[in-house]
Amino acid sequence: MERVRVWDLPVRLFHAALPILIIALFFTSEDEDLVAWHARLGLAVLALVVGRIAWGFFGSRHARFSDFVPSPAGLVRYARGYLRGEPEPHLGHNPIGALMVLAMLAVLLLITLTGVVTFAGPEWEGPLSPWISEPVADAVKDVHEGLAELLPWMIVAHVAGVLVSSKIERQNLPLAMVTGYKRADTAPVTDSGAWARSARLAVAALLGIGAALALATLLPESAEAAEPGELLEGYADEARAIDPAFAPSSARGEMLYRAEHVVDGKLVSCTTCHTGDPRLAGRSPAGKVVEPLAPTANPERFSDLAKAEKWFGRNCKQVLGRPCTPSEKADFTAFALATEGAR
Ligand code: HEC
Repeated sequence: MERVRVWDLPVRLFHAALPILIIALFFTSEDEDLVAWHARLGLAVLALVVGRIAWGFFGSRHARFSDFVPSPAGLVRYARGYLRGEPEPHLGHNPIGALMVLAMLAVLLLITLTGVVTFAGPEWEGPLSPWISEPVADAVKDVHEGLAELLPWMIVAHVAGVLVSSKIERQNLPLAMVTGYKRADTAPVTDSGAWARSARLAVAALLGIGAALALATLLPESAEAAEPGELLEGYADEARAIDPAFAPSSARGEMLYRAEHVVDGKLVSCTTCHTGDPRLAGRSPAGKVVEPLAPTANPERFSDLAKAEKWFGRNCKQVLGRPCTPSEKADFTAFALATEGAR
């Protein structure tokens, strides 16, 4: 038995980075304030998966799909041996492990792509909003969340499979994925020279990073922290593109804030949840606390364009039955900014 190099460095790094990113993605999936990080981490996963798929075509021997994607007959043969407790040896991924690898790559690709479409769509007023209807966006998001719930179970199955295979094959497979070496009685494979390898790796990395950067342009305008004043200026610019004479007015914003509308036979206005005084915390009909709207009382307000867009989108539709126009958003933001001092 010799130590044979099986997993090249890119495969091992890919494998080490994924669980870290996936855990971070689960931790950033619920909190609205972390959504920009969720998007970035998701794009990092996308870059890794695309890079890994490319590496599957021209990586080192055992990284290649041609080395491990099983034929149906090969799969049946392996499964039979597996059940007898004497599976035929595979230096790279065994056929069952290979199926899991393919399934996880496919699921990760689908999760990241549906994530991008969700951000690009109407919920976040992203650039694809005009082309994605709300029912379609909801369905895409359901797929995103459904697959994200499936993923931990796939990981559990993957780990269980690795442990069982380690026992049957008498190899420490988790360790092999760290060191790259397995014990085998086959002669080590010689791979192409270092230069050719580096060039191929650079191509795979560029494909991955390029795909992620291209898709990053579909995300709503950066959810980076901004000053409330910048947000107001942005809305005012949009409004002036429609009416050059537009100037933000906090008085008109206050009218919008207090105007009552009949929705489902009930009178509602922005004050229903945000209270008559935007410096005070309110409550949604569902009983959730709504932090004060005025930046003087709540410095986080109007500091994140994506967040402001999301809530303008939701709340205007709910109260006015239509989206707010850029001039209304500018007026409303001006009103919220004009309210002085916490109470
Ligand atoms: C049904 C309850 C409800 C009504 C009615 C409502 N809002 Fe909101 N609004 C919320 C909640 C909930 C949040 C976010 C909670 C949080 O961030 O604390 C929010 C947040 C916002 C934000 C986010 C600001 C930021 O950058 O953080 C804006 C803008 C906003 N609302 C505008 C409006 C406007 C305009 C109206 C009236 C047309 C309105 N809301 C009516 C519940 C409501």
